[in-house]
Amino acid sequence: MGNCCAVVLTNNRENSFTYQQKTSGIAGVSDRNMYLSALSSPKLLANFEEEVIRTPPPPRSEGDILSSPHLKAFTLNDLKNATRSFRPDNLIGEGGFGDVYKGWIDEQTLGAASSGQGMVVAVKKLKPEGFQGHQEWLSEVNYLGQLHHPNLVKLIGYCLDGENRLLVYEYMPKGSLENHLFRRGAQPLSWALRIKVAIGAARGLSFLHDSEQQVIYRDFKASNILLDSEFNAKLSDFGLAKAGPTGDRSHVSTRVLGTQGYAAPEYIATGRLTARCDVYSFGVVLLELLTGRRALDKTKVGLEQNLVDWTKPYLGDRRKLFRIMDTELEGQYPQREAFMVALLAFHCISEAKLRPPMSEVLATLEELPVITKQGTSPSRFLSQQQNPTARSPLRDNEPSPTHMNSPHLKFLSGC
Ligand SMILES: Nc1ncnc2c1ncn2[C@@H]1O[C@H](COP(=O)(O)OP(=O)(O)OP(=O)(O)O)[C@@H](O)[C@H]1O
Ligand SMILES: [Mg+2]
Repeated sequence: MGNCCAVVLTNNRENSFTYQQKTSGIAGVSDRNMYLSALSSPKLLANFEEEVIRTPPPPRSEGDILSSPHLKAFTLNDLKNATRSFRPDNLIGEGGFGDVYKGWIDEQTLGAASSGQGMVVAVKKLKPEGFQGHQEWLSEVNYLGQLHHPNLVKLIGYCLDGENRLLVYEYMPKGSLENHLFRRGAQPLSWALRIKVAIGAARGLSFLHDSEQQVIYRDFKASNILLDSEFNAKLSDFGLAKAGPTGDRSHVSTRVLGTQGYAAPEYIATGRLTARCDVYSFGVVLLELLTGRRALDKTKVGLEQNLVDWTKPYLGDRRKLFRIMDTELEGQYPQREAFMVALLAFHCISEAKLRPPMSEVLATLEELPVITKQGTSPSRFLSQQQNPTARSPLRDNEPSPTHMNSPHLKFLSGC
């Protein structure tokens, strides 16, 4: 752990980083994570080490984790058969952890089924990366073997066979939110679907934060939000998840891991992890949903590279908000609700102590009017679309919508 400061970041593909370790210590770290620059301070590192040692060891042994009654232990052969030997045609995604393939298993026996028959699964095959990769794989098995919720992706089983480590998940037909928002040629997501996805993801995070033993997710981002055929959002990737502080502790101290653009600034600076770090990341994803822009975009110049820096001045100003809204929406969004979501995002990315807990974030999102295909209030919505002066979400003489007086919006005051 003491060698983290020797990590060198290199940008090898758009918005994704690998790093080379100059010293031994942690062998082969998955390139989806980043050791952020705060760790180059030896003083901070010393503090982290001291506190990490005081953190109690994980309560469950590897044997306990792998013997979860909810999970099937697959052999490598099972998964070769299920994916037709990891045929390139069946490749559905690539991440820092490894490649993801589509496969088919028998619903009853969970054995391999013929292509197109039985239950569709997603099989993630870990790159051979040594200790850190194994720890992340084990963390995923640990958390998803125990936590079950409609907004967490279902882990069906795993495979540990020599050097091979794989994970078998329920298949999520609509892929990741990242693909819908940023993949070239993707059909733009409607406003209603964006809110639906935000609510689903907020439910998943709230569940983790409010569990008896709190779980901090630590890697909340668009690529880890998977979507089923109805655009219900489910969180995937628990490799970096961490048990929250217990007793009278306010935080857990850790190595700084996460993804640039989504990690909370105070966490990067101090290594102190709290559930409010996830709230920050949630705010960044809300900004991605509003703007259709990535958390970090190296193709932009100056301030616009960083979504938080670029959007902040517009979020509290209902007259200027349209300037940052995703042009792919073509103005097809209810402006009051967009302003409410912008304010919510603003609070999520504010100073840690001012951020609302996820339960409040969720309540606020759930109070947004449900929009059907036709819209909740088509007349108002349509008239706004047709009226070029209706750019500002709330005109001064308009009464506040009733849901803006909600107790859940108290934290929005003063913006
Ligand atoms: N259960 C699943 N069902 C369908 N597609 C999936 C599933 N799991 C992952 N994918 C696809 O595979 C892609 C890669 O996922 P993976 O979690 O390995 O990497 P990532 O989230 O893109 O990046 P990172 O390694 O930084 O987490 C996802 O973006 C998604 O498109
Ligand atoms: Mg992922």
